[in-house]
Amino acid sequence: MQMFKYYGLLAVRGIFTPNSIKGARAQNMKRVIGTVNRRFDKVTDRKDFMHYILATMESEKGMSRQEMNVNAFSFSIAGSESPATVLSGFTYYILTHPDIMERLVAEIRGAFHSVDHIQLADLNNLTYLNAVLLESMRIYPPVAITLPRVVPGDGEVIAGGFVPAGTTVGINHYACYHDAKNFHRPGEFLPERWLPETQNQHPYNQDNRNCLQPFSFGPRNCLGKNLAWAEMRLIATKLLLQFEMELDPSSRGWADDQKIFGFWVKPPLLVHLKPRD
Ligand code: HEM
Repeated sequence: MQMFKYYGLLAVRGIFTPNSIKGARAQNMKRVIGTVNRRFDKVTDRKDFMHYILATMESEKGMSRQEMNVNAFSFSIAGSESPATVLSGFTYYILTHPDIMERLVAEIRGAFHSVDHIQLADLNNLTYLNAVLLESMRIYPPVAITLPRVVPGDGEVIAGGFVPAGTTVGINHYACYHDAKNFHRPGEFLPERWLPETQNQHPYNQDNRNCLQPFSFGPRNCLGKNLAWAEMRLIATKLLLQFEMELDPSSRGWADDQKIFGFWVKPPLLVHLKPRD
């Protein structure tokens, strides 16, 4: 699509788009419009996203129904696929690294006795969980592609070279996070690189940690970053607090050879869950 847009050929893109994709998109949009309509008709005092949007409807800044629909469409993609991808990668990597799993489980079960006592703010203190989630986003970045930006004004000097205005630039997340120039043993799952007690020690002190920007960077970075962190910490904690987990043998090598078309095309990740006694 980016290529079609670049060459001014968006009008003919339909010819090259498989019918299965066109159908899926239309169906998804229909589902989202249905959800917006149901929320619109519902009388509730629940203070969700839509509450604030609906409250401004009559004002000058209010959104039209069409604007609500397209924004809900963006939210439903941005807000569901990325955290789900991180948690899938997280699950796979902890299940294939028993020593990491053991330490993580000890941290979580040492901090909480039941799901009823979890406070979101307390989850920020789970240092090992946060390190494992960061490492999951590095080795299996939820947005693994290059997010394009256009050089403004009169051009810019980027990384020591002049780039003229209008040039499309970007950094590929996957390549950046898997480059040995940026991370020690980049193909290995090593949460230690993010831990306060080891991150400044050899060999992790050579890691270029600032380059991990899974939520992008700058004024148009992810609007849902804090929500996503809260969601991921909470789901991971609840899962490990309540269940013993084991990877089904059919999912061994799950992360190998996956393809990316915007998002990862994830095969099913089969896990056995047993409630804890
Ligand atoms: C792990 C989870 C998530 C990751 C890694 C992630 C990543 C990103 C990235 C990389 C962008 C920049 C896109 C671009 O430059 O074109 C972005 C934008 C955005 N994200 Fe997220 N996201 C996550 C979760 C969420 C959640 C939970 C929501 C909200 C419900 C959300 C809402 C948005 C929105 C609205 C934008 C567009 C912001 C703008 O253009 O100003 N994201 N996200």
